[in-house]
Amino acid sequence: MKKADHAPAAPRPSLASRNAIRQVAVLGLGTMGHGIAQSFALAGFQVTGFDEVRAARSSLQRRVRGNLEDLADAGLLKRALIEPVLARIHVADSEAGALREAQFVTEAVREDLAVKQALFARIEALVPPSAIIASNSSTFMISQSAAKMQHPERAIVTHWFNPPHIVPVVEVVPGPRTNAATTRATLALVRRLGKEAILLRREIPGFLVNRIQAALMREVWDLLDQGVASAEDLDAAVRGALGFRLAALGQLEVGDFGGLDVHGAVFRNLAPLIKSDAKLPAAVAKLIAAGHLGIKTERGFYTYTARSAAAKRARRDRIFLALLKLLYAPLSPSPWRRRS
Ligand SMILES: NC(=O)c1ccc[n+]([C@@H]2O[C@H](COP(=O)([O-])OP(=O)(O)OC[C@H]3O[C@@H](n4cnc5c(N)ncnc54)[C@H](O)[C@@H]3O)[C@@H](O)[C@H]2O)c1
Repeated sequence: MKKADHAPAAPRPSLASRNAIRQVAVLGLGTMGHGIAQSFALAGFQVTGFDEVRAARSSLQRRVRGNLEDLADAGLLKRALIEPVLARIHVADSEAGALREAQFVTEAVREDLAVKQALFARIEALVPPSAIIASNSSTFMISQSAAKMQHPERAIVTHWFNPPHIVPVVEVVPGPRTNAATTRATLALVRRLGKEAILLRREIPGFLVNRIQAALMREVWDLLDQGVASAEDLDAAVRGALGFRLAALGQLEVGDFGGLDVHGAVFRNLAPLIKSDAKLPAAVAKLIAAGHLGIKTERGFYTYTARSAAAKRARRDRIFLALLKLLYAPLSPSPWRRRS
């Protein structure tokens, strides 16, 4: 019998469910992508990565091995698990090769909306129809990145934090066209990684963390610009007072401990005085214009040599791992579930 011209489309296979996902693809293997690939492999997934730059592909195993050795040194990973984890990480030499069998894809390519939109449209054509497609964008909502997709219901943001193989939280941000099955499966997946999934009820630019960070950035940069304190003292104040507390408590909990009457007065008295415009503070604008972009150019707010930068990064990671150990139960191979 001839098929009717307007027969309803065949039902799409159900979205990869919680336990069905085994095969993951990561596109873009830079700062974020390599650590994201590692996190999936650590939790038992088969991961295939692709990067358009050959050096990023060929160095993937070496970079992940270094991270895994740091975890083992910190007592967060059994050394015997390093080789099995690495054996689950594969590198494809084409985008299509990485995507062919993927049930969950995350992109971590550069922050350029046109690149992300074109990539999402291509991914959709290359993955199995039930695959979920996620973006690690820091600023673009999924309604923007997935604007050119045929089936945006299976697209979602999973926003990781640097270094992604260490920081325990991942923001999960569905868009208005993401369906409930995609959100459910993504939340379950992030939790299977041992990460803390933070679900936003609606999409909003910058999600939660980057908005909060931007508020802090504005004030710290303005205080530096005004010369109220040195860069060293500003950082010491943030680290030793705010950061120290915030490692144990959320900002709202800090308010409850301090007393909302007190915090309300602090807000009323100070909010009119702190910077509230959108102009980049001059001290920062000047550094950027001069090409002083931080560790990667060996000069930002501080100056570095290759050696001092490596030492500072190593110190940062040692402290992060110690915190992880302190605050999150060591449930190897996914050690970072929050202690209740
Ligand atoms: N660095 C961070 O702190 C951070 C944190 C959270 C989210 N993000 C977001 O993650 C994404 C990646 O950031 P990053 O810091 O890892 O950048 P990065 O520059 O370190 O890495 C990006 C990688 O993507 C590759 N790439 C670019 N276009 C590609 C394409 N079309 N196909 C395949 N590979 C491609 C590049 O070669 C590079 O290796 C961005 O969207 C960024 O906003 C970054």
